Amino acid sequence: MIFVAVVRVAVGLLLAVTLPVSVLAADMAAGMQKAQTCVACHGPEGNSASPAIPSLAGQPAQFIATQLVMFREGRRKDAQMSPFATGLANADLNNLAAYFAAQKLVLPTREAPSATAEVGARLAQQFNCTQCHGPALMGQQHIPRLAGQQMDYLKTQLLGFKASTRFDMDGQMTSAVQALSEADIATLADYLSALK
Ligand code: HEC
Ligand code: HEC
Repeated sequence: MIFVAVVRVAVGLLLAVTLPVSVLAADMAAGMQKAQTCVACHGPEGNSASPAIPSLAGQPAQFIATQLVMFREGRRKDAQMSPFATGLANADLNNLAAYFAAQKLVLPTREAPSATAEVGARLAQQFNCTQCHGPALMGQQHIPRLAGQQMDYLKTQLLGFKASTRFDMDGQMTSAVQALSEADIATLADYLSALK
C-alpha cells in the first residue's frame, strides 16, 4: 500500500518520480510464470514482433512496474493492455518487472537510412532525449529504453504525447515533444527503432 501511496503522492505533486520498487526482493521464477500471459502479445521473452506492441525485454524494472501501476489504476489506458494489469498485486508486478528487465532485447537487424540516422541523432541531442533516456537511449529508472523499440509504437506514443492523449505522469514528455514536427517524429522513430 505504501508503494501505491507513494505513486499517488508523486503524481499529485508532479515530482520527478523515484518509486521504491524492491527489485532485489523480486521473485524471478514467479515473474516468469506470470509472464506466460504477456508474451502472447509482447513476444517471446518480451521481444515483440508486432509493430504496435512494445518490447519489454531490457526495459528498466522501475519503468515496467510504474507503467503497470498506471494501467492498473486506469491512469494510462489501452483496450488491449488494461485488462491484463487490472488484477496484478504489487508483488506480481514487481516480479514481472524484474523478469522482463533481465531478458535480452533482440537487437534490430534493420538499418535506418544514413540520412535518417544522422538527423535522428542530432534531434535526440537537440531535444534532450539523451539527457533523460540516457546517452545510449537505453533508459534508466522510471524512464524507458527507446533504442531498439518497435518503430510504429514509438511514433504513436510521440504523436500521443504531442496531442496530450498519451498518459504522462509528470508532463516532461509532453513538453519535450511540443517543438517536434510530424516529420521529426517519424525520423526519430525510424532512428531509435534501428538503434543497437
Ligand atoms: C492482448 C495483448 C496484450 C497482453 C496480453 C499484454 N499486453 Fe502489455 N501492452 C499491450 C499493448 C497494445 C501495449 C501498448 C499500449 C499503448 O499503446 O499505450 C502494452 C503496453 C505495455 C506496457 C508499457 C510499455 C511501454 O513501453 O510503455 C507494459 C509495461 C506492459 N504492456 C506489460 C504487460 C505485462 C506485464 C503483461 C502480462 C501481465 C501484458 N503487458 C500483457 C498489449 C498486451
Ligand atoms: C525531461 C526528461 C525527458 C526528456 C527530455 C525526454 N523524455 Fe521521453 N520520457 C520521459 C519519461 C519520464 C517517460 C515516461 C513517461 C510516462 O509514461 O509517464 C518518457 C517516455 C517516452 C516514450 C514512451 C516510450 C514507451 O515505451 O512507452 C517515448 C517514445 C519517448 N519518451 C521519447 C522521447 C524522445 C524522442 C525525446 C526527445 C525528443 C524524449 N523522450 C525526451 C522523460 C523524458
